Amino acid sequence: MADVASAGGLPIVCAGVAVGHNGTRILADVDLAVTRGNLTLILGPNGSGKSTLLRVLHGLLTPTAGTISWGGASVRPRRHAMVFQRAVLLRRSAAANIRYALDLAGVRGAEAESRIDDALAEVGLRALAGRSARVLSGGEQQRLALARAWALRPEVLFLDEPTASLDPKASRAVEEIVRGIHARGTTVVMTTHNLAQAKRLAYDVVFLHEGRLVEQSPAQGFFNAPRTSEAAAFLEGERL
Ligand SMILES: Nc1ncnc2c1ncn2[C@@H]1O[C@H](COP(=O)(O)OP(=O)(O)O)[C@@H](O)[C@H]1O
Ligand SMILES: [Mg+2]
Repeated sequence: MADVASAGGLPIVCAGVAVGHNGTRILADVDLAVTRGNLTLILGPNGSGKSTLLRVLHGLLTPTAGTISWGGASVRPRRHAMVFQRAVLLRRSAAANIRYALDLAGVRGAEAESRIDDALAEVGLRALAGRSARVLSGGEQQRLALARAWALRPEVLFLDEPTASLDPKASRAVEEIVRGIHARGTTVVMTTHNLAQAKRLAYDVVFLHEGRLVEQSPAQGFFNAPRTSEAAAFLEGERL
């Protein structure tokens, strides 16, 4: 029988989370809650610990101190998906890449085919369903990675700088897809070092500085009146 506490996986709560590596501190004392339905942007300069925090939230990395829970349980439920800065795709068609992920999740047959079609339509790649993923453009590959994640019907979708290697037009296309996925009820947590992008997308901002969470605020408040000098300096620097 499904365990009620772990069935949802939300909120994800980090308490006093630290990650260290060979004596260096990558994250220190991070308290954070990811609540249902939010679109949270983890913002911070390169090296501030964004990817590390996302890996902890997703359950890919075990913190060296502190605790993390998913829906009140200590075991991560399965309905999370993650998309990385560069899409990791198989040398087969766009549709087959999604089919493979669904198969691993135990979704096969007519249900799989309908989800593949839906997901490709969602990211505007239906016409390229049969094309080899390896010959798609960078933007198309990233859209395919999003489609593959979306097809799994995740409750939470983690995106690690999904537009960092894309040009502005392809980045905007990815942002629209993220917005659409969120609008359908998926909780989204995305990292970015791009302030303009955070302004376009965020409901909530988590600002990291040197491995510490220095601010978590609703987006408007964060951008208009940051409460910390670190956040103010970042916003000021990006405006120059
Ligand atoms: N596996 C690792 N081993 C050693 N250092 C790491 C490792 N992962 C990340 N770091 C370091 O931790 C810091 C934060 O990294 P990261 O989370 O990738 O930051 P961001 O995503 O904000 O650029 C960086 O200084 C990085 O070099
Ligand atoms: Mg990173």
